Amino acid sequence: MEPQHDPDAIQAFFDGWDLYRRVIEHDYMFHRAIHREVRAALVRHRSRRILDLGCGDAATIAVTLEDLTLTGYTGVDLSPVALDAAATNLVSTGVKARLVEADFMAFLAESSAAEYDAIVAGYTVHHLRGEDLTRFFSLAKTRLTPGGQILIYDVFREEAESREQNLTRNHAWRTETWTELSTADLGTIRDHVLAADYPKSQAEMAFHAAEAGLEQAPELLFSAPTGIHRLYAW
Ligand SMILES: C[S@@+](CC[C@H](N)C(=O)[O-])C[C@H]1O[C@@H](n2cnc3c(N)ncnc32)[C@H](O)[C@@H]1O
Repeated sequence: MEPQHDPDAIQAFFDGWDLYRRVIEHDYMFHRAIHREVRAALVRHRSRRILDLGCGDAATIAVTLEDLTLTGYTGVDLSPVALDAAATNLVSTGVKARLVEADFMAFLAESSAAEYDAIVAGYTVHHLRGEDLTRFFSLAKTRLTPGGQILIYDVFREEAESREQNLTRNHAWRTETWTELSTADLGTIRDHVLAADYPKSQAEMAFHAAEAGLEQAPELLFSAPTGIHRLYAW
């Protein structure tokens, strides 16, 4: 079945990594607060083998993983530019990193080995739509070791909010608060978001996870003041 997201367009945006790097440097998407919780969850569950889907340049997770006792880190991304940077950024973790250039849905599907204690997906699942999200949870579930966890941080919408209302609200908030970016930068981000982003509500995430056979309800580990940027665990 063909995926509903457009891998070529997503890759083209993230190959121009500099803009997203500046967003992270200004902590506009709450990476620091989110990753404090990611690290705490990895420690709580004693996760040793980590799979990071849509890992990008792995700049933030490289700091998160420092001094944790890991036996492996696998990062998967469509963008070769981001993966090159990830290879450098992960050196400081001392962990043996495996970086794979692939669509993460294809990567998840290529084996049924349950080999990861934690699957992390940061700001990447919002590209998936409809049944692809159920399939994502279903594939991720098969790749987890018993007791393993799925950690998803992303942009989300309120239950009663449409996609359009959510994207408009987020753009207005970015324009007001991302003051170190130019109007052109904000326009580039808005164009990418309009073309590729499908933020889900908590109920929608819970529905797709349950359809995939995940029994537990999503646990909210972090929510930014806007409620848009959140971290959930299963
Ligand atoms: C917004 S960045 C997030 C990077 C990092 N996880 C973070 O938290 O900052 C999204 C990344 O997901 C990647 N991506 C999006 N869809 C993907 C897919 N289907 N398969 C693999 N990578 C994907 C993009 O190339 C990009 O590097």
